[in-house]
Amino acid sequence: MEYSESVAVITGGAGGIGLALAHEAVRRGMKVVIADIRQDALDTAVTQLSAAGGEVFGVRTDVTKIDSVTALAEATVARYGKVNLLINNAGAFVAGLAWDTPPEQYEWLINLNLKSVFHGIRSFVPRMIAQGDPCQVINIASAAGVTVYPGYASYSSTKHAVLGLSEALHLDLAAEGINNIGVTIAMPGIIRTAIMQPETASPADLHLERRSRFENATVRGVERMMSAGLDAAMSPEDAAQMIFDAASAGQLYVLPNHDSEGHQTLIQTIAKGRATGKDPYGTVLDNTLQSMARADAAANKIG
Ligand SMILES: NC(=O)c1ccc[n+]([C@@H]2O[C@H](COP(=O)([O-])OP(=O)(O)OC[C@H]3O[C@@H](n4cnc5c(N)ncnc54)[C@H](O)[C@@H]3O)[C@@H](O)[C@H]2O)c1
Repeated sequence: MEYSESVAVITGGAGGIGLALAHEAVRRGMKVVIADIRQDALDTAVTQLSAAGGEVFGVRTDVTKIDSVTALAEATVARYGKVNLLINNAGAFVAGLAWDTPPEQYEWLINLNLKSVFHGIRSFVPRMIAQGDPCQVINIASAAGVTVYPGYASYSSTKHAVLGLSEALHLDLAAEGINNIGVTIAMPGIIRTAIMQPETASPADLHLERRSRFENATVRGVERMMSAGLDAAMSPEDAAQMIFDAASAGQLYVLPNHDSEGHQTLIQTIAKGRATGKDPYGTVLDNTLQSMARADAAANKIG
């Protein structure tokens, strides 16, 4: 799609990848609506994006609630008359064992990472169909949409589902002969953001403070492995540029920081196991446990 003069809505747009996507949308000449649950961060982001020359509007939104996302769509159309690009980006990571994740935490992550995408599609796609002009939906899934690690029960299950939902959207649009809306699915590896601090935007009663998350050795190891990876990770700005380039080229998938040979081998090993009915996780698990142990030992030395 041609971006100049069109209107973008980005959920989770006040921080991390969402804010970088908002800057990229401004750079490409779009009017931008950023939606986020944190009002203070939203105000700061609007000031920053406006200073960069953007025509920007912030709407406090809780993507876990359909009414809030419908109100976001209405506010966008009231302000700018239309919407051309929806980026379902808001999401969070928190580690936990499959049997030891509190039901409230599962529910929060399912609502935030998965149902938010249903809410976005339901609130925006019918408007895009009625408009008939070039539109795009970009869903920020994750590398965890195609891979799984220990401690990833809630995160990987939501991101695998986002992948299925996004592919279903792509197929439904094609089957219905609707050709003004493209779909792009981003499956990033580790990107340098605040993703390892889920406590900043989670409901207070979930008690996601580090101390309780770190009581279990597997959970602590996986969180430390990810935190260690953040320092060397791709910048959100580079990820945002890759995602926009892929969407404008009409690509269905884009894998920022997840397209190296090592990542490709891992994705294909897991996919082959699934396709052939053979457990692929032997060496994958050994390598992960070693990385977790190294990250834990390094953090203990520093701490
Ligand atoms: N950073 C990574 O390594 C990485 C890798 C793969 C996928 N992702 C995905 O990218 C997306 C963005 O993550 P990030 O790394 O920028 O994290 P982040 O924590 O830096 O940003 C997430 C943003 O979402 C907002 N948010 C949280 N709950 C919300 C709600 N209920 N309603 C509206 N906004 C809400 C937060 O306030 C924050 O501004 C997520 O879907 C995440 O799963 C991130």
